[in-house]
Amino acid sequence: QTIDLKDYKIPDYYIETVDLHFELGEKQTTVRSRLAISRYSEAKAPPLVLNGEALELLSIQLDGQVLDKKDYQQNPESLTLFQVPERFTLEIETRIYPQDNTTLSGLYTSGGNFCTQCEAEGFRRITYFLDRPDVMARYTTTIVADKKKYPVLLSNGNLVAQGEEDNGHHFAKWQDPFPKPSYLFALVAGDLARIEDEFVTRSGRKVALHMYVQSHNRDKREHAMASLKRAMAWDEQVYGREYDLDIYMIVAVDDFNMGAMENKGLNIFNSKYVLAKPETATDTDYENIEGVIAHEYFHNWSGNRVTCRDWFQLSLKEGFTVFRDQQFSADQGSPAVKRIQDVNHLRTYQFREDAGPMAHPVRPESYVEVNNFYTMTVYEKGAEIVRMLYHLLGPEGFRQGTDLYFDRHDGQAVTTDDFVKALEDANALDLSQFRRWYSQAGTPELRISRAYDAEKSTYTLKIKQTCPPTPGQPHKAPLHIPLAIGLLDSQGEDLPLRLAGETTAVTGTRVLELRQEEEAFVFHDIPCEPAPSLLRSFSAPVKLYLDLRDEERYFLLAHDKDRFNRWEAGQQLAVKIILGLVKDYQQGKPLVLDSAFIETVGRILESDEPDQAFVAHILALPSEHYLAEFMAVIDPDAIHETRCFIRRSLAKALQELFAATYQALTKTGAYRRDPKEMGRRKLRNTCLGYLMELDEPDIRSQCLQQFNHADNMTDVIAALSRLVDIEGPERKIALQTFYDKWQEDSLVIDKWFTLQALSRRQDTLARVQELTHHPAFKLTNPNKVRALIGAFSQGNPARFHDPSGKGYGFLGDYVLKLDPLNPQVAARLVSAFNPWQRYDQNRQELMKAQLERIAKTPQISKDVYEIVSKNLA
Ligand code: ARG
Ligand code: ZN
Repeated sequence: QTIDLKDYKIPDYYIETVDLHFELGEKQTTVRSRLAISRYSEAKAPPLVLNGEALELLSIQLDGQVLDKKDYQQNPESLTLFQVPERFTLEIETRIYPQDNTTLSGLYTSGGNFCTQCEAEGFRRITYFLDRPDVMARYTTTIVADKKKYPVLLSNGNLVAQGEEDNGHHFAKWQDPFPKPSYLFALVAGDLARIEDEFVTRSGRKVALHMYVQSHNRDKREHAMASLKRAMAWDEQVYGREYDLDIYMIVAVDDFNMGAMENKGLNIFNSKYVLAKPETATDTDYENIEGVIAHEYFHNWSGNRVTCRDWFQLSLKEGFTVFRDQQFSADQGSPAVKRIQDVNHLRTYQFREDAGPMAHPVRPESYVEVNNFYTMTVYEKGAEIVRMLYHLLGPEGFRQGTDLYFDRHDGQAVTTDDFVKALEDANALDLSQFRRWYSQAGTPELRISRAYDAEKSTYTLKIKQTCPPTPGQPHKAPLHIPLAIGLLDSQGEDLPLRLAGETTAVTGTRVLELRQEEEAFVFHDIPCEPAPSLLRSFSAPVKLYLDLRDEERYFLLAHDKDRFNRWEAGQQLAVKIILGLVKDYQQGKPLVLDSAFIETVGRILESDEPDQAFVAHILALPSEHYLAEFMAVIDPDAIHETRCFIRRSLAKALQELFAATYQALTKTGAYRRDPKEMGRRKLRNTCLGYLMELDEPDIRSQCLQQFNHADNMTDVIAALSRLVDIEGPERKIALQTFYDKWQEDSLVIDKWFTLQALSRRQDTLARVQELTHHPAFKLTNPNKVRALIGAFSQGNPARFHDPSGKGYGFLGDYVLKLDPLNPQVAARLVSAFNPWQRYDQNRQELMKAQLERIAKTPQISKDVYEIVSKNLA
């Protein structure tokens, strides 16, 4: 059963107010809702169809009258009232079982506490409702529960009443003054510790900031709170957006399907994105927490005040909010490093999605299960689209556009088109061609050739754009693409750029606007043949083909003013070298690593570049997944072996330098977490990683030393992640020590699972299978599933794609085990098969067999079914 964008119709009925009354119990919960409903059309009186799933209907009353059975019809997914007046009050009582709700959608329990997840369609698992984002209502929520077990009772908005009832119960009543869609509803009840802080908005509103965690985690809240305050200040400065309620609450829960949720005034987070202290969280964890806290906060405007008309518009809030959180994080540290991380992520996972059977436009046209469309494409490519608009409009034009957007659509449920229209109107610009980015799937390809004419002093770039076919879209129209470029002279300086017909030249990066399938740009007064630095800072989410000579790439790596492109030049060199060696490997030839490459890596290590995180990124070889993108038939063994060979060869050739750098970067003074120290740790651990490629007892014991004596999780994990690959006794010792020390800390144990799932060792699958029986592993906890099974199947291509098919069988088993419990997470797992047609015959058949086996299993969820059937189509 497919839902299509073209079938969108405005609702027949609106709900103006919602009064909810929850009685939370140990076995069951009753929900009473009183809805004030009005009909939209006065002419006709269509039936009222409310959504509802897994609900026990206890009673319905219309304007105080109990409804007769013949007046309505109940289906597993809906409740239809055949005849209703123009305006009326509907009271519905339902019973639900949150303690048994393993889907983690709707109302459920986690660690003994009640919490909710309503996006996208969880509210219908709480009560019958018009569960669609364009129905916006004002909510009042009363929660009644045992006072001892559930001292904390929370919902959206402001607390307006609380008190005691008899038999040990108490209640709290919350009122949210802002109309909102049901997906932003939230409720929390439990025994939670709270820290309080305060933020004063620039117009003087005092906002109470409350963060709730389980009491054993009270010492891990500071970073999230500090991040929240930075995000609130940043959104005022950069977007002019202020917070609008007197209280902002964040609750951390251990069982959560995604990262976090922006419920109005009451964010609920996966505890992974809240809890941190140096002993338990890595620098990456800290960065992720800051990013997700900011992301959810920014949704208050891009998502809540202005929301989505329907779920096809999801990128309206997600693409824009991801772009906003990326900008925020870039402002907190090194913008170049942040951009490198984001582009790496996009090219590794979104490009793969765009090239497979699940490829879809940023504004999808149809879906079976909307939860399957919380994708890299909607989020990350969506953010790239907003970034391109930023490049095209410039910072001021973009800000004028977003001001108009927020102003014009405040309180409304709108479309991605409304967003583009606001930017267009604010800048008197025509973005009609640009809109194709929202409707066309697939990663566009740019093929660029260049020619220098010494006599005329002109330099010509000829650019051809294409986009490969994707499911349902055989032909693509040309896109409007911002291509940021610079041309470097022999000193590495940016040349002034003047196009034909222009009177003045622009020095520094300039943005070319591509619109045609083929076009040429001619630059004048170019004194000598320049080195082209194209697609600076990755100004568009495209694949660029330009046959630079190796010397040119080495030159750009050393000199480009655009730091992203310096890194990119190094990546391109590495890709080329690795792919060349992959061929040799496949043909059984001996592998030899290019000496120019080794020398360059050495020079980079010795350079005095102050941004050490940036250096570490340059030294990192492209990931196995990214390399796979370049192969017609993916050969996971060849990629893995070749990549390991290069790391080993670099380690051998530059051993002294790596060792000296490792020593030189030894910490002086107390632990700190600032950009400089994080960069130092990153570069030092990069050196350790290379050194550990050498099978030497001295290095192993040094690694074990670091593992044993580090005062922070970043250095511990860096060491342990190398030790898990080796044969020696250090591996067992370290793993056991780590487990013994951290067994009480669930998030740290997730790391322990992941490291083992990612190990290069031949016996990794066997070990992973064993770990599924470990007492700390729980199939009902999504973090555990992702840490072990997700990491193995999505992050360890060499072992997952074992030619025997054992890895595939293992994944198939777990998809089937998990699906009846939690279809959303099962659907994420099964997606590891998406690129199956990119592999050799043998692997294709083995993966297909698993897909078929899952497809024919009776009672499979529509979440998993949609993915499997699109794979087999
Ligand atoms: N809106 C959330 C975010 O910040 C994601 C929630 C999605 N949850 C789901 N079950 N589909 O990105
Ligand atoms: Zn979001």
